[in-house]
Amino acid sequence: MAKSLNKNLHKANKAKKDEFYTQLVDIEKELKRYKEQFRGKVVFCNCDDPKESNFVKYFSMNFEHLGLKKLIATHYKEANLFTQESPYKLEYTGDKNNNRMPDPDEFMTKMISTGDFRSEECIELLKQADIVVTNPPFSLFREYVAQLIEHKKKFLIIGNTNALTYKEIFKLIKDNKIHTGYTNFNVGMFFIVPNDWEKFHHIDKNGNKIARVSTSCWFTNLEVGKHKEHIILYKKYNSDEYPKYDNYDAINVNKYADIPCNYEGVIGVPITFIDKYNPEQFEIVKFRKGDDDKDLSINGKFPYFRILIKNKKVGK
Ligand SMILES: C[S@@+](CC[C@H](N)C(=O)[O-])C[C@H]1O[C@@H](n2cnc3c(N)ncnc32)[C@H](O)[C@@H]1O
Repeated sequence: MAKSLNKNLHKANKAKKDEFYTQLVDIEKELKRYKEQFRGKVVFCNCDDPKESNFVKYFSMNFEHLGLKKLIATHYKEANLFTQESPYKLEYTGDKNNNRMPDPDEFMTKMISTGDFRSEECIELLKQADIVVTNPPFSLFREYVAQLIEHKKKFLIIGNTNALTYKEIFKLIKDNKIHTGYTNFNVGMFFIVPNDWEKFHHIDKNGNKIARVSTSCWFTNLEVGKHKEHIILYKKYNSDEYPKYDNYDAINVNKYADIPCNYEGVIGVPITFIDKYNPEQFEIVKFRKGDDDKDLSINGKFPYFRILIKNKKVGK
């Protein structure tokens, strides 16, 4: 009994951590950079209550402007013995009555499943989609991304920058299968949180509680111009400024802007490098660990996580 109570509490806690709702302004800021990539596409928001989600609001308001073919959104509702209420899905193919909104009676239908993105019903919808766009539950982030990759979908999703340190996600970055979006990494984002939350940053003009997550960013496999730009390097290598690690033949750099332009060997850089990473200019060699499989260290001290890279342009 105590065990199952514990399990339920743990589940509730986990679910609570997932209740961060994205603000329209943040969606607009990122999405406006991809306009051409959305033309003629079917967009799927698969963690989004069609009546509440700002992703749904953004895509329905901009449906004609973006030239979308279809917008699908599914709402997740855990099976509940008491309410028996089913979640609903939206399938919107454009404005019919000039209000630029998907009217519930016209486009929403009840779902058979709970709306879990892993359910058969949602996977069938995923198959129809060209691009998946949402802020998925962080507690299921690995599984969520794995499903998108398995189904070879294009996506633009919000995640926590810590996800970069997951070995599955890091591998995708290293293999150039995903990269960060346009919104600056490491500046943090503000999200709408449930009314009963005690910890929040401020209340917005609509009375919503807003909390800051300092480690949020967009992950995507759509084209992002900044990952095609070269980082301008102006520093020259010298052994005093760039010490080597104890356990790997590489130099340490504390800011990606200080990467020496003439160093041919392996360089350890902070994780913020990922936000500027251009696979044409650099190659990612390894993450975090030295030859002894322990964290990279300098004179016995451990700098924060480092990514080991090589400049492809030096020595050629
Ligand atoms: C971080 S919130 C973001 C909600 C919305 N996408 C937004 O950006 O405002 C994640 C949402 O995923 C929902 N969710 C949790 N588990 C899910 C699952 N297995 N399948 C689909 N959605 C799920 C949660 O109810 C929550 O509303």
